Amino acid sequence: MPTAEPECNEALLGRRHLISADKLGVDMAASAPKERVPAACAGPASPWLRSQAAAMEDTVDLSQQTVNRLCKLPVFRPVATRVLQVLSQESPEIATVSGLIQSDAGLSAELLTLANSPLWGCEGTIRSVTRAIVVLGLQRTNRLMMTVAMRVYLKGCPSLHPEAVRRCWNHCLACAMAAEELAPAWGLGKDVAYTAALLHDIGRAGLLAAFPKEYGPLLLEEVESVLEACNVEKLRFDMDHCRAGQFLVRTWGLPAEFAEISARHHEPVVGEGVVSLVQAACQCADALGFAAMPARRVPTLEELRARLPAPLEARFSCDPGKLQEKIERAISSLG
Ligand SMILES: [Fe+2]
Ligand SMILES: [Fe+2]
Repeated sequence: MPTAEPECNEALLGRRHLISADKLGVDMAASAPKERVPAACAGPASPWLRSQAAAMEDTVDLSQQTVNRLCKLPVFRPVATRVLQVLSQESPEIATVSGLIQSDAGLSAELLTLANSPLWGCEGTIRSVTRAIVVLGLQRTNRLMMTVAMRVYLKGCPSLHPEAVRRCWNHCLACAMAAEELAPAWGLGKDVAYTAALLHDIGRAGLLAAFPKEYGPLLLEEVESVLEACNVEKLRFDMDHCRAGQFLVRTWGLPAEFAEISARHHEPVVGEGVVSLVQAACQCADALGFAAMPARRVPTLEELRARLPAPLEARFSCDPGKLQEKIERAISSLG
């Protein structure tokens, strides 16, 4: 769990005088139970989906219950959030970033351990955060810090299902590494791409922590596709993990692009920006065997490539064997 400035979302919301989801800009109408089986799930629903729908017959006001529970979760590492805010400015000051990271001793220590691990292949020993920034640069240091922060947050979530947490973490890491691999085709920096993708499924962590008994088993259940899984989440919690992630990211005050990534990462890949890159990276992680939940229908890399907008399809380049091996190394090294 985060150790610096322990605080829950509810306290954060109170401090900002924000008392409801709509004041955070979360479109709760989109998750209201008007349409029990949305368009993405049109067609014959699986027996499991039908049973989930039947189980929801007697539910009341689940969206408010979900918001209430999400509001009680611990906030994301405050220093990491602040660093992301500083880095989203036009000319971030190295001294500001360095000072912020150093103000969280636990985060600094874990960042230095990671910077000196063979995984990152840095030359020489890095003994201070300032040195890390000089040697690695701001974006790469930020990427290490976010890896530490995300791992601690996800693995610290109170869940009764460690296997569900493990699958989630592996998927987030795989998606981040896939985004790094694909970044040149999108014309984006590798470290920026990695960091953007790392947090894309933070809503899963939120639902896992908010509903430890209910969401863990759901993540381990085989579904037809990821879209069916999102629809089941809407049935169970009146909010899928995309909407939950958007809500949390806005509550924590992370830069706006992270909220958009959370909200839209399961939409079809259109355009060429960072959201589109994360959409492709998430599917790429699934295709390589690092899905957050088991699905019967997972598009292959070739299918993913064929669905990309033409310019991206032409530039798309990925060696699946090498990337898979690299991800497996990172997973076993980071734990
Ligand atoms: Fe997702
Ligand atoms: Fe994903």
